[in-house]
Amino acid sequence: MAASLQRIFCSRSSAFQKNFIRNYAKIGMAGLPSFVKIVEVGPRDGLQNEKDMVPTDVKIQFVNKLSAANLPVIEVTSFVSPKWVPQMADHDAVMQGIDRHPDITYSVLTPNLKGFHAAMANRADEVAIFGAASESFSKKNINCSIEESLKRFEEVTKAAREANIPVRGYVSCVLGCPYENDVSPERVAEVAEGLIALGCYEVSLGDTIGVGTPGGMKDLIATVTRKIPVEKVAVHCHDTYGQALANILAALQMGVSVVDSSVAGLGGCPYARAASGNVSTEDVVYLMNGLAINTGVNIQRLMEAGQFISHALGRKTGSKVAQATQSSL
Ligand code: HMG
Ligand code: MG
Repeated sequence: MAASLQRIFCSRSSAFQKNFIRNYAKIGMAGLPSFVKIVEVGPRDGLQNEKDMVPTDVKIQFVNKLSAANLPVIEVTSFVSPKWVPQMADHDAVMQGIDRHPDITYSVLTPNLKGFHAAMANRADEVAIFGAASESFSKKNINCSIEESLKRFEEVTKAAREANIPVRGYVSCVLGCPYENDVSPERVAEVAEGLIALGCYEVSLGDTIGVGTPGGMKDLIATVTRKIPVEKVAVHCHDTYGQALANILAALQMGVSVVDSSVAGLGGCPYARAASGNVSTEDVVYLMNGLAINTGVNIQRLMEAGQFISHALGRKTGSKVAQATQSSL
C-alpha cells in the first residue's frame, strides 16, 4: 500500500480495516484457479544435464521420495538416444526400479517411435513429445526441422492412440532462443496448435533459457489461446533471470492451471547452454499455498526429496524456500 493510503487506512475503524482486508484479498485472488496441477520434471529435466552419471539407485530413490510428496505427475526419464543425452541412458532400470502409486502419473520423453516402444516396454503411464518454436533449436535438440519433427511425432501419437496412452507436447524456446534470440508468439501458437492437432492433450510452453518476463508471458498466452483452449496450456519456466515465479503468476492470471517445476531448482537443457535450472517446486508450492491454491502436494515431503537430491549431487539447493527453512532450523 502506498504511504498516503496507509495513513488513511490506519486512521479508520478496525471494522473498516477488516472489511477492507477481506475485500482486498478477494480482489487479489480473483481470476486465479482453485487447483494447480504440478508436473515435477526434476528426475528428467533436472538431471539430464548433469555431467557426472547420477547412480541409478539414487534416481530411483529420488522418484520414490517425490511420489511420497504426492506430486500428481512425475517425469521420470527420457527414452532418447544415449549418445545425445548419456545421463538418461539408464531409463529402463529407473522405470523398472521405482515404486508406483496408483494416483501418480509416471511420464517420460519420447522423441520418436523407437523411444515410444521402449517407454511402453517399461510401462510409462504417459509420454511427451518435444518440439520447438525455433528452427535452430529444433535442429540442435532433436536433429530435424520443426516440420520434420511434427511428422515424426505423428507416428508417436498414432501409436499412443492405439495403445491408449496420453501424449503431452512441449514447445521449447517460447520466450527466446539461445541461437535465434527473438521468437514470435505466433510461431509458438502454430507449433502448439500442430501438437494439439496430432492428439496431445496438453502443451507445455517452455521458456527454455529463462529469459521471459511477465508482460511477454501474458502476450504469449493471449496469442496461444487464440489457437488452443487455455485448459490445454501448461507453463515450463526456467529461472535463469529470476523471473520464473512472476511469469507463472502472470500465466495463472491468464487462466493457466498446469505448472512444470523441478525440486531444488535442478535443471538445464544440454542443447541450450544458457539454460539454468527450472523454477523450484518448493517455491511454486509455497506460492500456491500463499494464494490458497490447492496443489495436493505435501511440502514437507517435497523438501525432503529436495534435500535428498541436493545432498546426493553435493550441491546447495536452488530453492529459496528450502534455503530459508534450512537456515532457520
Ligand atoms: P538422430 O541421430 O537424428 O537419430 O537423433 P537417428 O534416427 O539417426 O538415430 C541415431 C542413433 O540414435 C541410432 O543408433 C538410433 O538407434 C539411436 P546407432 O545406430 O547410431 O547406434 N536412437 C535412439 N536410441 C535410443 N532411444 C531413442 C532413439 N532414437 C534414435 N529414442 C534423436 C534424433 C531425436 C534420437 C536425438 O536427437 C535425441 O535423442 N535427442 C534428444 C535430445 C534431448 O533429450 N534433449 C533434452 C530434452 S528437451 C528439453 O530439455 C526441453 C524441455 O525441457 C522444455 C524446455 O525447457 O523448453 C522439454
Ligand atoms: Mg526444460
